[in-house]
Amino acid sequence: MKKISSISELRTIINKWRKNQQSIAFVPTMGNLHDGHISLVEHALSVADRVIVSIFVNPLQFGIGEDYQTYPRTLEADCETLEQIGTHLVFTPSVTDIYPTDTETTTSVIVPGLSKILCGASRPIFFKGITTVVNILFNLVQPDKALFGEKDYQQLLIIKRMVADLFMPIEIIGVPIMREADGLAMSSRNHYLNAEQRTIAPQLFQTIDNIKKQIEQGGRQFVQLENQAISDLTTTGFNPDYIAIRQAQTLDIPTSADKKLVILAAAWLGKARLIDNIMVG
Ligand code: PAF
Repeated sequence: MKKISSISELRTIINKWRKNQQSIAFVPTMGNLHDGHISLVEHALSVADRVIVSIFVNPLQFGIGEDYQTYPRTLEADCETLEQIGTHLVFTPSVTDIYPTDTETTTSVIVPGLSKILCGASRPIFFKGITTVVNILFNLVQPDKALFGEKDYQQLLIIKRMVADLFMPIEIIGVPIMREADGLAMSSRNHYLNAEQRTIAPQLFQTIDNIKKQIEQGGRQFVQLENQAISDLTTTGFNPDYIAIRQAQTLDIPTSADKKLVILAAAWLGKARLIDNIMVG
């Protein structure tokens, strides 16, 4: 496995692969890899000749007071894991490689509507930071396919929208959520949970799974289902940000006739802001 941080070196290698007509799949990450990331890379290895993983903790997607400084950085262990599973190249640029001028005035890419709702309502710069860095990384890597976890469902839809709106010739592939045995969605931020919070955490998934079951049994009082879930989670010790039943493709508020839905959740548990989602229909 090649491990590089230089953009010119990255370009040389990619040009060589392209000359050999090798297809490229790309998995952008912020490191601190868990089985969710591994499944993205394994999926990538099955759909292209060469797989590039980037590890870059992107300052642009962290708001004031968020965990940019303390975000877990485990580069050595991440590279070992990536090498073991057969990754061809890991790209580890620095902040000045990605933002050579500065992070304040750099050109940004925004998907306006979708970026303002749900997680975007409480984290106003979050998705702008993500679409900006993913756009830069796509320009550098020029992949045929890029893979993102369905756990970050809103992020996945926003990236798909960016790629469609900007006519980027990249296939975006969503990969199913990996869960711990008790149902908790895998996330680098699960490390922030203490032992007691860790036992409570799976209730986020249980709560949205319970809403799913009620909808499948004919429940159509969406606002009532959301409010009940918020109340249940609050009683359990969560500080819910939102529980939202939405149309799966647009994240619009559904009518009772809509069949393809997604139930999304974000809730604080101690220092961890957990997110999860489940599809219905
Ligand atoms: O999902 C993530 O880990 C990040 O948001 C991403 C896509 C790597 C952009 O920094």
